[in-house]
Formats: sequence, C-alpha cells, structure tokens
Amino acid sequence: MADANPTAETVHITIDGMELDVPKGTRILDAAAMAGVDVPHYCYHPGLTAPAQCRMCLVEIEKVPKLQPACVATVADGNVIHTQSEKALEARQGVLEFYLVNHPLDCPVCDQSGECKLQDYTSAEGRAMGRSLEPKRVLGRDDFGGDVLFYADRCVMCTRCVRFMREVAQDERLAVVQRGHRNVIDTFFDEGLEGNLWADNIVDICPVGALVSKDFLHKARAWDLDRNPSICPNCSQGCNVRLETRDNQVMRIKPRPNPEVNAHWMCDYGRLNYEWINRGARIEAPMVKEGDRFVALSWSDALKRLAAALKEAAGGEARAVVSPFMANEDMGLLRRVMDATGGGTGVYRCPTGEEVVLPGFPTLALRTDRAANSNGADVLGFNRVGDREGLGGLEQSAAHGGVLWVLGDELTDAPETFGQDASVYVYVGHFLSPAARNAHFVLPATTFAEMEGTFTNVQKRVQRFWPALQAPGMSRPAWQILGVLLAGISDAAPAATAADAFAALAGVRPEFGALQWAELGQQGAPLPSFAEAGD
Ligand code: SF4
Ligand code: SF4
Ligand code: FES
Repeated sequence: MADANPTAETVHITIDGMELDVPKGTRILDAAAMAGVDVPHYCYHPGLTAPAQCRMCLVEIEKVPKLQPACVATVADGNVIHTQSEKALEARQGVLEFYLVNHPLDCPVCDQSGECKLQDYTSAEGRAMGRSLEPKRVLGRDDFGGDVLFYADRCVMCTRCVRFMREVAQDERLAVVQRGHRNVIDTFFDEGLEGNLWADNIVDICPVGALVSKDFLHKARAWDLDRNPSICPNCSQGCNVRLETRDNQVMRIKPRPNPEVNAHWMCDYGRLNYEWINRGARIEAPMVKEGDRFVALSWSDALKRLAAALKEAAGGEARAVVSPFMANEDMGLLRRVMDATGGGTGVYRCPTGEEVVLPGFPTLALRTDRAANSNGADVLGFNRVGDREGLGGLEQSAAHGGVLWVLGDELTDAPETFGQDASVYVYVGHFLSPAARNAHFVLPATTFAEMEGTFTNVQKRVQRFWPALQAPGMSRPAWQILGVLLAGISDAAPAATAADAFAALAGVRPEFGALQWAELGQQGAPLPSFAEAGD
C-alpha cells in the first residue's frame, strides 16, 4: 500500500506487546493512545503545556534505567515500552496513594463522580485499602466567581486550571499558593473568575471534582446523562459541542474537540445559554385556519390543503422571514418550494453583541452574530434586516399581499396585523405567538436539538448536528415538512432523510454540491468557493 505521507518520518516501537509505526517526536502517551492504551495522567492536557509534575504517567522503557513520564518523553526508534510492568504499576500505585492521603472520598456527593480520573485510576490500578491513619487536611469550599466552585480537598494539584487561565484565556486569575502539603489553588483578587468569558473550561479540564459548575451543581449524575454530538447554537462560531440530556431536557453543554473551530474550548455564554432549548408550550400539531379558529389535521391532510392553496395563489412573488437558528436544509428546502411556486425574496433577523476573542486560540471567538446559522442564511440568499437586537425590519413582510412564509422566527415584536393581507400565510415554527396566530397554516417544526441537519459557521464551515431530544407531538424537521410539500407540487422526490435534504441544497447554491453528507463526519468541512464548485 502506498505511504499516505511519505515525507513524515516514522519510528518503529512496541507498546505492551503491540508493534506500531508512529511519527518521530510523538509523546509516548499519544503513541500509547494510538495503540488503544490509556496511560493514566493528570497534569497533561493536549491544549496546554506539559509540566510533567503529577507523575501519574510513569512507564517503563526497556534499556532506560528510570521510569519515564509518558506525557513528555517522546518515542525513539526501537523503544519497547511497558505501561503495565510491575515497576510502572508499583510507582503509579504509590503516586495514587499520596493523592488519596488528604482526599475526602466524598464520591457520593461529588458532581464529578462517574467521570473522575481519581476514581478511574484508583479502580483500575490503585490499592484496595488506604494505609494512612493520619487526620486529613480539611480546606472546604470556595466560590471562585462566575460559574465556578472550588472544592479544595478534592484537588490533585495538576495545575491544569492555572495553566488554562495563563496560557489560553491569558487572564492570569489563578495561582498555586503555599508550599508542600499546604499548597492550594487560589484567586488573586476578590472578583476571582467573575467576568472572564472562558472560565468554565477549567471545570471541563479539571480531572477530578475540585472545580465544578454552579449551574450543574447536584443536578444530575454523570451516568444518568445521554450525550449527543451537536453544534452550539448561540453564535456563528459553531463550536463543536455535546448536548448532555436527561429526561428529555438539556442538563449541560460540553465542548467537543475540533482543531479547526474551537480546539478543546467553548465560551460561557454559549455553554450556559441552553434553557431556551428546553422551553415547553410548543406547537404540537399541524393546524389550518377555518373561519377564525384553528383545526388540527394529520400531516398528509394539512400538506394537501397547503399544496392546493399555493396552486390557487400562484403568480405573485412570495416573501419569507427565516430564523438564523434554523438549519441549512430547512432554509434550502424553503427556497426550493418558493422557486417551484413562482419565486420570491427572503429576509432574516439576527441578534448581535460584542465579539470576544479567546487570546490563546484566536480562531475561536464569541462572534457578533448570536445565532448559529446567519452565514447559512446569507449563502442561501436571505437578506439581513432589523436592528442589532434582531428585532424590527418586518414592515414589508407584515403587509405582503402574496404568499408569506415564516420559518422559525417567533415574531415576538411583529405588529398584530402581521400577515393579515397575505393570500396564503404559512407559519413553520415552534411557538404560537400573536403574529403567528394570523397564519392560514401553522406547521410544527423541530428545533436543532431534536433533528439532524447542518449549520454554516462564520468560517463558512458546514457542520452537522444530531438529535439529542425527543420532538414534541407531531412536530417534524422543517426540511422534512417542506420536502414532502415540494414533492406534492413538483416532480422532486421527497427528502426522506437529512442526507436527502442536504443533497437538495445543491439545487439552491452549487457549492453545496461539492460536499458529501457522509464526508462531513463529526468535524464538518469548509464550503468550497463558487470557483471551486464550478459556478
Ligand atoms: S482544581 Fe482541578 S484542575 Fe486545578 S489543580 Fe486542582 S485538580 Fe487540577
Ligand atoms: S463561541 Fe459561540 S459557538 Fe462557541 S460556545 Fe460561545 S456562543 Fe457557542
Ligand atoms: S501527566 Fe505526565 S507527569 Fe502528569
């Protein structure tokens, strides 16, 4: 087989009996991971410098007299490495025993329980019984400000939190104070971490339960959570995240690594702004206006009546108001439906705010556009209207006399008369606001958290998300609703899957045709320029 990268120099090594070739200069810890071996570690984190201070990662290398820290020692050709030798295990067991001397062993009430590296390593290779009979050091709990609580007794002094604030947030607000067995993490000033937009990342990287989130405190056990890959919906950066849910509610949002977008990090604004995803009182059934009241119908009856109404109203230009929180596929299928019924124009409104860059990884910023898909709306030909709050700009749509579409925009600030002049007013969305009640057809759509789809981020990177919640009632992804409608009014095949809906985007903007759904994977791909797509 041809070498995938003939210029990369590799070395041949053996780890726990497995032979493999890895790039020269690879850390032993990473090489072991390539062989499927997890070497215990606390102080090492791939997004930070490596101080090699916790000594949890000691491994034995044949012909090397001393045990080596796998987090900084790199592979050499011919290395025969043992992570499970008697000597390595004994050393790590001793290190773990010291970590447990002062630890309160309060797993039953610790939020980290179930995802704690002290639990994991002790269970995997620690001593069955502790031997210390001395009284334990007791330090208690400290409010570090922002969303962060510090349980000092649980700390293993790995300094990941201190290094994150120094190297990545570049806002040095934490330090190790005191010496020896008295040392402890502390803040410099009264405000602690208050006001730093990136501080909750230290909760993620703390390997034990020393740093916990106030928002998540005692809310759910780690083993009760379901986790699904998704995209943060709260700005156009499109951080890769996991939605962690229980009982069909988002309990917390955690970052997922993507070196092209957010590395290992996310901002606190995006992380803590999830309650809206859990909001109830949703539209649950397709409804058609009869006289001055709504009648709930089956999907097939509602869409047949809508197709007939659109046919009758054919001729004039349609107008659409879309939300930048909707997926590319939702907006694209709406465009296809509008094109099949005489064409028209569309607008979107987007709340905005100040941009805040993460200094240690400037690719990541809390972006001005506080919605995930404003770039998707642009690419798919919708024009921005309204003010910095994402309000206003609806005058023309409100008084439109032809077919009027609203996709996802809640219309909280729309006039009461919104849509009353429209020949056919179709509301595809989540909540029945007063302006939505004027619609002739109300069709319940899922949110991004309840469906598959893609967003286009500020870098024009197209990224997939997956369903994490059950959709309420009869609601469906808007792309599915519009895809079935399109099949009813044209010779297009209905979009049966999100992949079908994604493929249909090429009919709206050709550059989407250069991307394959399956190849987007969990990291996404950049949308090629018009030139690359052959437009
Ligand atoms: S608080 Fe957590 S991240 Fe910070 S030094 Fe202690 S164990 Fe490490
Ligand atoms: S930077 Fe934007 S996408 Fe990333 S977590 Fe913050 S709000 Fe979400
Ligand atoms: S992870 Fe290697 S010394 Fe801490």
